[in-house]
Amino acid sequence: MANGLDDVVAAETVLSDVDGAGGHLTIRGHSLTELAGHWRYGQVVRLLFDGFFDELPGDDELEKAIGNARVEVFERLQPMLAGLPALDVYSGMRAGIALLPDGDSLADALRLIAAPAVLTPALLRLGRGEKPVPPDARADHANDMLRMLSGTASPALAKALDTYLVTVSDHGLNASTFATRVVASTQAGLTSAILAGLGALKGPLHGGAPGPVIEMLDAIEASGDAAAWLRNEIARGERIMGFGHRIYRVRDPRADVLKAVVRRLGTRCETGSRLAFAETVEQAALDVLRVAKPQRSIQTNVEFYTALLLEAAGFPKEAFSNVFAAGRVAGWIAHAREQQATGRLIRPKSRYVGPVPDLVA
Ligand code: ACO
Repeated sequence: MANGLDDVVAAETVLSDVDGAGGHLTIRGHSLTELAGHWRYGQVVRLLFDGFFDELPGDDELEKAIGNARVEVFERLQPMLAGLPALDVYSGMRAGIALLPDGDSLADALRLIAAPAVLTPALLRLGRGEKPVPPDARADHANDMLRMLSGTASPALAKALDTYLVTVSDHGLNASTFATRVVASTQAGLTSAILAGLGALKGPLHGGAPGPVIEMLDAIEASGDAAAWLRNEIARGERIMGFGHRIYRVRDPRADVLKAVVRRLGTRCETGSRLAFAETVEQAALDVLRVAKPQRSIQTNVEFYTALLLEAAGFPKEAFSNVFAAGRVAGWIAHAREQQATGRLIRPKSRYVGPVPDLVA
């Protein structure tokens, strides 16, 4: 058995399916391309939550309930916010979420949907010495997140962020979703389960990659030779951020969705030349990886164009994983509820390979 549980089926789910050979993502019967850019994030929350909560309202009512939850979370956590910017913005968000009630109701779930969207802009502003902008319950989720960040939200950027949140809302049994399900299987509350997901998402082999993608692009730009820089990284045993995936053997379909969003933004703002440069780096990375790792099909993953999209939306690179969490939290909650409903504790075995005690007669 491989250390990474490769190919082990550890759950049955109705939520999403990742076809790694074909490069397709299905979320509750809908292809990613059907959802991204066409459904609002609030609608996808409803799609994922359907059947996992009693009395789930319709799309418009749920959107309003998410707005009210943003206001509630802001008011509840505002007194504690001043102490959190001492932490990095991801740890600050996680600490804020840990202060929320740990129940299983729809109200608990909506507070958790709201929390990353509210805490991330508030902590970024406090870190810059600015006052947080309170949420507007009537605004669309992505729009309000941008408004809380910078005071305004252009429709184009709000649409781009909304498409991003939808694109990353769920993705099979990835590391953070598995961690969430393990905690949920103990019948702990949703906040405990989501904290487990947040812990797993942070690492650079999972949702912590897009910040380092920006650092890589900046370093390559400074070096002036993408291929040489990338070859040197591989020679030093480093991984190229934004490339490779456990399941996908072809291009991650989310990369194309997000690249198209960045391309559309490029016609409206300064992202055009950044995109052209990133495309050159992407091609160089694919060429270098093909030569360096011929035994493995290493392709562009979601994080490469996530970095460009979130940079264009005005988020600093240290907050990229927060925004990922703001989208993925919908999937985590649905998976936690699905796991709780099985009533079955996740408890695998390990094989002991340590020293044996001396058996003294
Ligand atoms: N750069 C260089 N080499 C790589 C990369 C990469 N991005 N990805 C895999 N490899 C190499 C490994 O070094 C290994 O080489 P070896 O056999 O010579 O030792 C081989 O490919 C297989 O590596 P594994 O770790 O078994 O591959 P796995 O499929 O488990 O890795 C992972 C998936 C962790 C995402 C990996 O591709 C990686 O580290 N990528 C960079 C970080 C990144 O982009 N993370 C975001 C992933 S997307 C997401 O989680 C939302």
